[in-house]
Amino acid sequence: MHTQGMLRDNALKGKTIIITGGGTGLGRSMGKYFLELGANLIICSRKQDVLDKTAKELAKETGGSVLAIACDVRKYDEVENVLAKGIEKYGQVDILLNNAAGNFISPTERLSHRAFDVVVDIVLKGSYNFTLAMGKYWIEKKIKGTVLSVLTTYAFTGSGWVVPSVCGKSGVLGMTKSLAVEWARHGIRLNAVAPGPFPTEGAWSRLLPDPIKEEFDPTKKVPLGRVGDHQELANLAAYMVSEYSAYITGDIISIDGGEWLKGAGQFNNMDKVTPEMWDMLETFMKGKK
Ligand code: HXC
Ligand code: NAP
Repeated sequence: MHTQGMLRDNALKGKTIIITGGGTGLGRSMGKYFLELGANLIICSRKQDVLDKTAKELAKETGGSVLAIACDVRKYDEVENVLAKGIEKYGQVDILLNNAAGNFISPTERLSHRAFDVVVDIVLKGSYNFTLAMGKYWIEKKIKGTVLSVLTTYAFTGSGWVVPSVCGKSGVLGMTKSLAVEWARHGIRLNAVAPGPFPTEGAWSRLLPDPIKEEFDPTKKVPLGRVGDHQELANLAAYMVSEYSAYITGDIISIDGGEWLKGAGQFNNMDKVTPEMWDMLETFMKGKK
């Protein structure tokens, strides 16, 4: 069931959606479902060849319209260019999905300041650049636009070994909650999703490289015992950018099979205690007055 599309046909009909980093991974999967639901798509990232290939494939697979524009989200003039080209082609842009990211695992003290910058700039600056450009446009044109940002669950909790990403994602979380209130009077909604592990080449190659893949297998950490399926994230994202979620703003929805809560609850590793051990422990503890 969770691997099937969920929303009604044409739920995004007539909407034009920008997805940053839409040429690969989760951005591509969400984009495909938005197209199936009737949206027009604008995908942008640094690599024009990757975008062109994806645009061609998605248009063929769905019959929808996809515009591919190279853009480094860190550069405001390139962000404005994406918006201008989108308006030129589709007349209006309604929805922004902040999905582009950079990340890698490293002990923080080993990072150069440039390594810190590169991740924070893609994640935080890239997201506020696009959000600002869209907000100015929507307010001027009186369009009730929607922003959805892709965070991670460690935006709530923090996490060692990915500290630049934590800084970037937590900043986007703060922006989402702040602007949800500030721009509500213009009818603009901002929300975010916080995925747990969803296999993609981009994330797996940088966060779960082969030498540590077995030991850090995410399925061992997720209470529901599996990684996410791209369609279930696409279902959530489509709902969050559609008008079915019109009363939700400023919220961050986790989709992680319970992974982050498992790490948070003090006794949540008691699943290692076997039934035989519980028999023994119960006998032992019941005797205590
Ligand atoms: C330490 C590193 C490093 C590493 C790069 N650097 N990789 N330092 N460990 N693994 C340093 C470099 O030495 C350099 O610093 C600086 O970072 C910039 O590196 P460049 O290679 O010049 O940067 P660039 O070509 O712009 O590439 C950016 C990138 C790259 C972030 C490093 O990985 C990238 O393009 N990523 C995009 C896609 C991505 O990351 N996807 C995964 C998202 S997954 P010096 O000082 O040497 O100049 C995700 C999931 C989260 O976010 C949650 C999962 C559950
Ligand atoms: P991915 O395929 O590597 O996606 C990242 C995208 O960002 C790429 O398409 C990349 O394209 C683009 N990008 C990077 N730097 C950019 C820049 N400066 N300007 C424009 N675009 C840029 O990885 P993914 O796993 O699908 O990640 C997608 C999102 O999900 C990210 O926000 C990530 O943090 C989030 N997430 C993923 C997981 C997971 O388990 N996969 C879990 C939690 C959150 P170019 O290289 O062409 O620029």
